[in-house]
Amino acid sequence: MENIKSGQLSAVSSQVRLGVKINSFRYPDGTQALSDINMAVNRGEFIGILGSNGSGKTTLLKIIDGLMKDFEGSVYLDRADIKKLSPKEIYKKVGLIFQNPDDQLFAATVLEDVAFGPINMGFKEDEVITRINNALRDVEMEEYARKSIHNLSFGQKKRICIAGLLAMGHEILLLDEPTAGLDPMGEYKMMTLLTKLNKEKGVTIIMATHSVDLVPLFLDRLYILSKGCIVREGIPEEVFTAPDEMASVKLRLPQIAELIYKLRHEDNMPFGKIPLTIGEARREIIKTMQNVKLKI
Ligand SMILES: Nc1ncnc2c1ncn2[C@@H]1O[C@H](COP(=O)(O)OP(=O)(O)O)[C@@H](O)[C@H]1O
Ligand SMILES: [Mg+2]
Repeated sequence: MENIKSGQLSAVSSQVRLGVKINSFRYPDGTQALSDINMAVNRGEFIGILGSNGSGKTTLLKIIDGLMKDFEGSVYLDRADIKKLSPKEIYKKVGLIFQNPDDQLFAATVLEDVAFGPINMGFKEDEVITRINNALRDVEMEEYARKSIHNLSFGQKKRICIAGLLAMGHEILLLDEPTAGLDPMGEYKMMTLLTKLNKEKGVTIIMATHSVDLVPLFLDRLYILSKGCIVREGIPEEVFTAPDEMASVKLRLPQIAELIYKLRHEDNMPFGKIPLTIGEARREIIKTMQNVKLKI
């Protein structure tokens, strides 16, 4: 019995790719950016860090990417202490995509930019070409290989940033507000692309966002960050509760959830649960209206 238990335990823990415990991080000017962070990210998960401006999202992603190591606490990447890993050992597995693609892209053309990583990793020419082709195909930008970076749209630049990291073979992608600055269709396309990378290629994804309407549609699990602390964690249904609780962390419910919440609590409509997406709301409204009709 004992053996089975410990066997199961090790099977579970080998799924954990990132274990993050940060007690404190201050910037050199004294700003206390993070105070209480506890996260565990499993292989293949699609995780959201949801928080308002200034809550510490970018700081947290930079620490997980090994860019800042002078924090109190520990970050484990596949059970190795990130403070003891070299940048090369970290970058083999983890890639960070900045909020602004212009901070990340530097080459003249798409091809040169995406080629930079695999060339630096020492791959042979054939392998570099295969990696570039595969990465551009994964982000649906194959026809843009010879284009000047300068002429790409903001959303296309974001895709090229992702391709650059995929070409290096990152298994864990950290994305800082990947949908910020995109139009509604661009936001949807970006989330669909990330979902595809996660579900089909098995890339583990952690994205920082404050876009509460998109989150319930796509993400497996969420952490809510407020003033440098993780204040709640769970699947979207567990995290999005009452509007006042979301307001206390400077966020709100998805709009459709807010509407149904008001109909239930202010107009006494007999809704069972608070739906988070249009699809769920549609089903819940039909069900509730049928119940109301039966009673009449
Ligand atoms: N380089 C820096 N020096 C000093 N303070 C910083 C620096 N970068 C961010 N901060 C501060 O750290 C806190 C968290 O910032 P940040 O991680 O950028 O939040 P978010 O990404 O959620 O908007 C904020 O109070 C911000 O002003
Ligand atoms: Mg930020």
